[in-house]
Amino acid sequence: MKINDFKLECYFGIYEFTAPYLLTQSDCESMSTRELLDMEKGAEEAYLNQWLGYTETWGDPELRELIAGLYKDMTTEDVLVFHGAQEAIFGYMNVMLNEGDHMIAMYPNYQSAYEVANSVPNCEFSKWYIKDDGEKWVVDFDALEALIKPNTKVIAVNSPNNPTGYTFTNEEIKQLCDICKKHDIYLFSDEVYKGLELDGEKREWMADYYHKCVSLGVMSKAYGLAGLRVGWLVTKDHETLEKVVKFKHYMSICDSAPSEFLSKVALRHSDQLLERSKNIIKDNLKLVDKFFDKYPNLFEKKAITCGPVAFHKLLIDMPVKEFCQLAVDKKGVLLLPSDIYDMEGEYFRMGYGRKGVPESLAKFEEFLIEEKFV
Ligand SMILES: Cc1ncc(COP(=O)(O)O)c(C=O)c1O
Repeated sequence: MKINDFKLECYFGIYEFTAPYLLTQSDCESMSTRELLDMEKGAEEAYLNQWLGYTETWGDPELRELIAGLYKDMTTEDVLVFHGAQEAIFGYMNVMLNEGDHMIAMYPNYQSAYEVANSVPNCEFSKWYIKDDGEKWVVDFDALEALIKPNTKVIAVNSPNNPTGYTFTNEEIKQLCDICKKHDIYLFSDEVYKGLELDGEKREWMADYYHKCVSLGVMSKAYGLAGLRVGWLVTKDHETLEKVVKFKHYMSICDSAPSEFLSKVALRHSDQLLERSKNIIKDNLKLVDKFFDKYPNLFEKKAITCGPVAFHKLLIDMPVKEFCQLAVDKKGVLLLPSDIYDMEGEYFRMGYGRKGVPESLAKFEEFLIEEKFV
C-alpha cells in the first residue's frame, strides 16, 4: 500500500516538541499518572499490581462496558477498543473501501479520514466542504446529497470538527443520519472532540441514531489523555466490527494493559475530567476574545460552540503559511496554516485546551508588535 504523507503529523514532527509556545494544539491539558490515580481511592495500588501480559483484542471487557455506558443503549459487544483513534480510522477505512467505491468526507478533516480512499486504486473521493460564510463556518446538506452517487459507500464526518470547530446541532445529527439511511450509506462519525460542548447543548453520539454508523471516540482530546493511546469504535453494526477486528490483528493486535487500566479510572470520572477541560477552554476563550477584539484588521475571528480548536482568517496581506512560519521562527509560537489541510484561503488553527495558552497568546502579541503588524 502506498499512502501520501500525513501533512499535519509531518509538521508537528518538526515543531510539537521544540516550539515553546503551543497555540494550536487540539488535545486538552494532560496530567500525570499520579494525578489521575489520585482521583480514585486504591487505584495506585491496583495500578502497580496490573498484569502486563497480552490483553484481549476487542479491549478489556470492563473498559468496553464503561465506554458503552457513554452511549444511549450500547452494550459491551458494540465496542471495539484501539490503540488511539488513528488506528481505528485506518482499520475501518481499510476494510470498508475497495476498488470502485466512492466515499465522501466532510472537508477540511483529519487527513486519515480520506487518505486511505486516495490510496485504494479506483476508489473515488469527494469533499463535502465546510464553508466560510464571511462570519462563521457552515455546512449545506443539499450540497452533501448532491455528491451522493450509486456507488457511495461511506460518508465520513468529524464534529466537533478539526480544524474549523464546526459542530452539528442535535437536529443536524438526525438530519445527517436520515440522509445516510435514505441512501443506505455507511456513516463514519469522528467524535473525538465530543464532550466539550461550550454552548450547553450536549450532543448525541451518532451511532445511537443509525445502525450503520460507527462513532469514533478517544481518551486523547476531551479527556486530555493522549499518551494513553486509547480510542474506540462503537456501533450496532457487528458485521463491520468483525471485519475491523481482523484488520487489527495486523496492526497492534491488542491494547496496552496499563493504558486500559488508566482509561478505566478516567472514564469512571468522565464528567469531572470533561468539566476540567471545558473550564480551561472557557478561561482561555475570555483572553482569546479580548485579543481578537483588539485586532479586527488583522484577523477575522471564527467563534466556536464546541471543542478546543478554531480556524481563523488571516487578513494580513501575506500568505498564511509564511505568517505561521515567521511566528514559529521568530518567537517559537506554533500555529497551523491552512495549507496543511490543503485548504484554499488564508486560515490558521488555534487550540484553546492547554493551560499554557495565556503565555503563548502573549508571545503571539509580542510577535505582532515586533514584526510591525500592529
Ligand atoms: C479529528 C481527529 N480524529 C482523530 C485524531 C487521532 O487521534 P489520536 O491521536 O488519539 O489517535 C485526531 C488527532 O488530532 C483528530 O483531530
